[in-house]
Amino acid sequence: MASALKKVALITASSRPTRAGPTVTSFISKILTTSPVASSVEVETVDVKTFNLPLFDHPSAPAMFPLNLPSPLPEGHPALAWSKKLQTFDAYILVTPEYNGGLPAGFKNALDYTYYEFTSKPFFTISYGVHGGNFANEEASRAIGVIMKGKVVDTKVLLPWARDEMMLPTAEGKLGPKTLEAWEGQKGEVLKGFEELIGLLKEEKVAEEIAA
Ligand SMILES: Cc1cc2nc3c(=O)[nH]c(=O)nc-3n(C[C@H](O)[C@H](O)[C@H](O)COP(=O)(O)O)c2cc1C
Repeated sequence: MASALKKVALITASSRPTRAGPTVTSFISKILTTSPVASSVEVETVDVKTFNLPLFDHPSAPAMFPLNLPSPLPEGHPALAWSKKLQTFDAYILVTPEYNGGLPAGFKNALDYTYYEFTSKPFFTISYGVHGGNFANEEASRAIGVIMKGKVVDTKVLLPWARDEMMLPTAEGKLGPKTLEAWEGQKGEVLKGFEELIGLLKEEKVAEEIAA
């Protein structure tokens, strides 16, 4: 019997009312469908904004609660739904802007509610900003790869705004024509990271089959 397709979350990290995040995620999503490995996985968009997470109010630290232990969060807490959703995926692609040299506070807050959700799972970060959001990209790699022990792929994609178009995403959530044209030229990098991610999933599958 054919095994169920592995699931990949495509996470939108920003949550401002006029954010460009969903547009950037949709741009990435279209690129992923052109990959020869696209049909081997199911990609689903996950928008952190929809979880309405409160400012971090966990009574302890998620790192102290492996997922098989009951969470100390009260029933119905939005972070439980966030965690449950993340646990349905085998790998993750983060699409994040950079705010003041790091991850957006809303996403960092969401990340702090997690830990084991990402442990040992493949993870790929795509960032955007004036210089492609390099600091946010690094921060995500450190939190997920070094602290939470996720398997961060080698490829990091940095998508920079065209010099005179930054106000458009910031004020209207739109991508300017020069930005889009430049990003089209980075499709190969996005596909490379995606294929590395899927490669890690395949290695896991082989290991599972050997162990079975
Ligand atoms: C609070 C704030 C801080 C920002 N800081 C940075 C920054 O440090 N580096 C950068 O490249 N862009 C920065 N920007 C510009 C963002 O790249 C741009 O506004 C982008 O559209 C934000 O993503 P979003 O629209 O999905 O929220 C900042 C924007 C905001 C709203």
